[in-house]
Amino acid sequence: MRVTDSSSAVKIQILDQKKAESLLGGGQKRIDQQHKKGKLHARERIELLLDAGSFEEIGQFVMHRCKDFGLDHEYYLGDGVVTGYGTVEGRLVYVFAQDFTVFGGSLSETHAEKICKIMDLAMKNGAPVIGLNDSGGARIQEGVMSLAGYADIFYKNTMASGVVPQISAIMGPCAGGAVYSPAITDFILMVENTSYMFVTGPNVVKTVTHEEVTSEELGGASTHSTKSGVTHFSCANELECIMYVKKLLSYIPQNCEDQPPMLPYEAANEARPLLNNIIPENPNQPYDMREVIEQLVDGGVFFEVHKNFAENILVGFGRIAGRSVGIVANQPAVLAGVLDINASTKGARFVRFCDCFNIPLLVLEDVPGFLPGTDQEWNGIITNGAKLLYAFCEATVPRITVITRKAYGGAYDVMNSKHIGADMNYAWPTAEIAVMGAGGASEIIFKKEIAEAQDPAAKLQEKVQEYTQKFATPYRAAHRGYIDAVIYPEQTREKLIRAYKMLENKVVNLPRKKHGNIPL
Ligand code: HXC
Repeated sequence: MRVTDSSSAVKIQILDQKKAESLLGGGQKRIDQQHKKGKLHARERIELLLDAGSFEEIGQFVMHRCKDFGLDHEYYLGDGVVTGYGTVEGRLVYVFAQDFTVFGGSLSETHAEKICKIMDLAMKNGAPVIGLNDSGGARIQEGVMSLAGYADIFYKNTMASGVVPQISAIMGPCAGGAVYSPAITDFILMVENTSYMFVTGPNVVKTVTHEEVTSEELGGASTHSTKSGVTHFSCANELECIMYVKKLLSYIPQNCEDQPPMLPYEAANEARPLLNNIIPENPNQPYDMREVIEQLVDGGVFFEVHKNFAENILVGFGRIAGRSVGIVANQPAVLAGVLDINASTKGARFVRFCDCFNIPLLVLEDVPGFLPGTDQEWNGIITNGAKLLYAFCEATVPRITVITRKAYGGAYDVMNSKHIGADMNYAWPTAEIAVMGAGGASEIIFKKEIAEAQDPAAKLQEKVQEYTQKFATPYRAAHRGYIDAVIYPEQTREKLIRAYKMLENKVVNLPRKKHGNIPL
């Protein structure tokens, strides 16, 4: 509802709370317009997110201070963003929800101040910040004041990074520099068909590059969940989006000093005999690593993050005997599980999140190496692969690796090897830990012998067998102690339960430094 006063000296007399509430938001007509587009109103979103009756609003009477372009006649209580705190499953969270019914949810100086205020509270009190974004960007009438407001938020996002979890649900437009606040936060969720994110919209794109593209193609949920990897979750609708936010919260602690929530767990038969038959006879045949994960986690529940992006690596959360773990796994079913640029950055970001927030890591390894080719080299597989390596090296949380099959070349080192700080390294008897596959290796080191042989094909075969027997096993690594135990697949879950319990008080102090310099 618009609050106007012909004298332009606007005075709002709040007689009681009920009347004040009736003044919030841009009115029923605009809320109806939102509903028609399949979008909820900011307050409805908050209601769905928080435990019933737990929301405490902060700053509901805040109004903008702009006097230009007719805004001295148009005020809305709350100024286009609903902020406050409440609980999700009984745990404190801070929340802001932009209200598209008020100036298109655009960000004014005061709107930004409200967001910053709850971020300050969240950092002081150690609880996650959840942003429900739905905004036309900088409030155009306010000029640099709204840009300053954005910069204030970006700064707070950065200061809060690694202190409290920050989650951004994009439930409408998010364009221009505004995208950089979600980008700094830990997780982004987008709603299909009603949300988009881009730095410059389709019109500017057409002018500059002559490309014709729709908002959805340029920056919709599908694009960002598959092509760019900007969003971690693509949700069918707003309900699903909010459900994912809650699920995400269930795996993560309140802040960097806290431990992730531990669910009660009663010991049972932990043998998983199905795992004994999961690795195909032929080492080049793919299998789905999700099936391995589902055998290892409680109730077979794997909450996958970044599901449709760089599918050759899997990342996500699960529980092992009630304990939250972050899982990073090569996926032999896609590109043979090779590490490429996108897989490396996807894995690195997830490892760093888990390490920030005390979530133990589990690595399941079946990797033939890094992807060769000009595309990868010219786009920086060196720098990007190093991100994953660096992230693992730096992580101080409990770290366990299980090598199911291939652990070749540099990728063996990178995927949480003993040498870079993993605590427990297991291998299945099917593990092949070597510089490269037996075929390639034999062709190189026995090149002369094979060329001079009467039957080069038979000679190659003989050499491949020799190499396989010697190196394509876990035992050489186990003799050296690089592998702590060679285990039957069916024992894996039990070994993990014991090892995580053993590691629960792990302390590692990194060398004193201002901060490291991860190869960005
Ligand atoms: C002020 C805005 C606004 C804005 C929308 N509105 N965006 N008011 N500042 N940025 C107002 C509209 O005037 C309108 O008011 C109401 O919100 C709803 O907008 P519509 O256009 O009717 O809605 P819709 O058709 O759904 O289109 C939504 C939209 C469009 C695509 C977001 O409004 C739009 O393109 N807005 C401008 C986006 C933009 O360029 N923002 C600045 C980006 S630059 P009435 O009263 O008519 O209903 C930026 C820099 C950030 O954000 C930099 C940080 C470093």
